[in-house]
Amino acid sequence: MQQDNSTIHFGAGPATLPISVLKESAQAILNYRETGLSILELAHRGNQLFDELLEESKSLVLELCGLNNEDYEVLWLQGGGRMQFSMIPMNFLDKDATAGYIDSGFWAHDAQVAAKQFGNVLCLASTQSTNYHSLPILSEAIPAHLAYVHLTTNNTIYGTQMKQPIDCLVPLMADMSSDIFSEQRDYSRYDLFYAVAQKNLGIAGVTLVVLHKNMATKIVRLLPPILDYGQQILSKSVLNTPPVFAIYVAMLMLRWIKEKGIAQIEKDNLQKSNLLYEEIERNRLFKAIAKTSDRSKMNVVFRGAEPKTEQDFLSFASEHHIKGIAGHRSVGGFRVSLYNSIGIEQVERLINIMRRFEQENI
Ligand SMILES: Cc1ncc(COP(=O)(O)O)c(C=O)c1O
Repeated sequence: MQQDNSTIHFGAGPATLPISVLKESAQAILNYRETGLSILELAHRGNQLFDELLEESKSLVLELCGLNNEDYEVLWLQGGGRMQFSMIPMNFLDKDATAGYIDSGFWAHDAQVAAKQFGNVLCLASTQSTNYHSLPILSEAIPAHLAYVHLTTNNTIYGTQMKQPIDCLVPLMADMSSDIFSEQRDYSRYDLFYAVAQKNLGIAGVTLVVLHKNMATKIVRLLPPILDYGQQILSKSVLNTPPVFAIYVAMLMLRWIKEKGIAQIEKDNLQKSNLLYEEIERNRLFKAIAKTSDRSKMNVVFRGAEPKTEQDFLSFASEHHIKGIAGHRSVGGFRVSLYNSIGIEQVERLINIMRRFEQENI
């Protein structure tokens, strides 16, 4: 939650939400659009209020992506990022076919492992052997026989971020969970992209999936309807009871993003991450980890100069109401997530705390 002098939550997800979104969500829980009903009680079938909510959320997604509804479908699904790791190969990777994966981090790797259950996987490039401190480099052109290529635009755990989509002639699928709508991006380069909501898009419980309509013609096997993108498109994301509240919060976030403007959001994200990386480099008690040119603007990952520094700084920061900065358990150190809802002044508060910690410990 964002309030002056209160706790700042830099967690990687569930992440901070703008105070205006929290207030409007709280109001909707008590009385949704003056109906006397809570949004938590809103029926999803034959209900104009829900239809309007779904419609607005979908058209905002397309508008913010610069895509049109003749070519693209917007789905709100459940099961998180992990469900997409399996749904993509289930739908598009035949038993004897091969899909290409770029292994740039923990989640990218998991997506690749999930695909192996359904067909062949070609790892196009990997930085696993160097602990994912940099992005993998493609040494050859993407083979044209692949069913699709999957990549992860931002590696939440290791703090690296792709600056450009890759060039390929086969369908391109992307996990954008931790950096969707954080910068201006050519979304038309992707045939399918998805993002869990609990980072830049609201709360856990719903996952945004955008796919080109052509993809619905490329489904390779008979699937239970709930796992079939084609069936989900036909049922307009309401095959089963949808998480109405999570979609509502995502819609409020989309309105918030639209009002601020992605160009401004991108500028702020650059400024926030530059300020923090500069302090990490200047401060004698911390060191950055990711290769400089691959650094993420969303998740800033760094370590303490000594192991003891790490425990001490976590306690020091917590005493100063700074939470959610411990690194992922597989990496250790620190991870500060600078999603769209984090303001520049909050990053400045963290930097002040880092400076005070240095003064008191050197
Ligand atoms: C890039 C990325 N993809 C996928 C996931 C997994 O999301 P979920 O826990 O909703 O399955 C995460 C979680 O943090 C993530 O950062």
